[in-house]
Amino acid sequence: MNTYILGIESSCDDTSAAVINETHILSNVTANQDVHKAYGGVVPELASRAHQQNIIPVIENALKYANIHKNQLNAIAFTNGPGLLGSLLVGASFAKAFALGLKLPLIEIDHIQAHILAHFIQPAIGNKEVPEFPFLCLLISGGHTQIVLVKDYFDLEVIGSTIDDAAGEAFDKSAKILGLPYPGGPLIDKYAGQGDPKRFPFPHPSVNGLDFSFSGLKTSILYFLRDNMKENVEFIEQNKFDLCASIQLTIIDILMHKFELAVKKTGITRVAIAGGVSANTGLREALLRKQDLNEWKVFIPDFEYCTDNAAMIAITGYFKYIRNNFSTQKISPYSRVSHT
Ligand code: KG4
Ligand code: ZN
Repeated sequence: MNTYILGIESSCDDTSAAVINETHILSNVTANQDVHKAYGGVVPELASRAHQQNIIPVIENALKYANIHKNQLNAIAFTNGPGLLGSLLVGASFAKAFALGLKLPLIEIDHIQAHILAHFIQPAIGNKEVPEFPFLCLLISGGHTQIVLVKDYFDLEVIGSTIDDAAGEAFDKSAKILGLPYPGGPLIDKYAGQGDPKRFPFPHPSVNGLDFSFSGLKTSILYFLRDNMKENVEFIEQNKFDLCASIQLTIIDILMHKFELAVKKTGITRVAIAGGVSANTGLREALLRKQDLNEWKVFIPDFEYCTDNAAMIAITGYFKYIRNNFSTQKISPYSRVSHT
């Protein structure tokens, strides 16, 4: 039997809609917001306005590409948090109204949980291997850095997290110091490919257990550049590739060190990555090296399911749908509290 779920994601600066048939993806449409580039970060008011402009065309396209009519949908799933409140309200209000109008069940989704369950999205045709429970997931996005022990679809335990900045913030803030536009992560990744990662060794933080810290890196980059710019004002421009490669390697080493510790502590060698930073080339390579050495079984999401997308909302919606886990029209978005 076909079960069609529409997923809607609007937690930050991407407006996205997707249609899934059980676990098989039929469409995943995302409108990015270029308007923030000039400001060096996401401007919440501009994000909500752009979501309002984008949401109807994005949903229309998701239905069109999936080749289904809205009357064929079985439920509407939407991101209820965490994220920017004004942005979340646009998706939540649309989802509620759409569900009410179509007399469909409404399903609230936690954005962080959805990043992890993105691993269960199947292609439109055929099947790919998905992680068996339990597995470890390194969740690395612009707002979160956590090691999650995934015991079942909805049984997740956070066993490590950042005590200050998220890994994505470490990329974005470092990029900003280098004068690169927002979001800096993808650009650092691109330039790192042309640089020497060992050229500028930056210090690693010492944090106990499975927790992370990234705020010290930003400070050491700042001091390092200030000192070198005194001697040579062209320092950043002349060393852009090596700087990006060195910063990227430092962030990857910090992440991999704690992930290795988590594997050692739990004895679980099935590992996955999720969230925007899992698009990083260097990190993907570091993980695949562990797989080549037969140490880990590694699960890496397709690029389109790493950064924010509605396919992950739709798949999580499907798993809640088959458990009859529905929300009421009284539900309202939350900005910070994560239920994972
Ligand atoms: O998951 P995501 O799209 O949004 C949040 O939920 O935060 O993650 C966005 C983050 C940004 O910090 C962005 O710079 C980072 O993911 N990012 C990357 C790459 N692509 C996106 N960081 C490093 N390398 C990349 N290729
Ligand atoms: Zn995200």
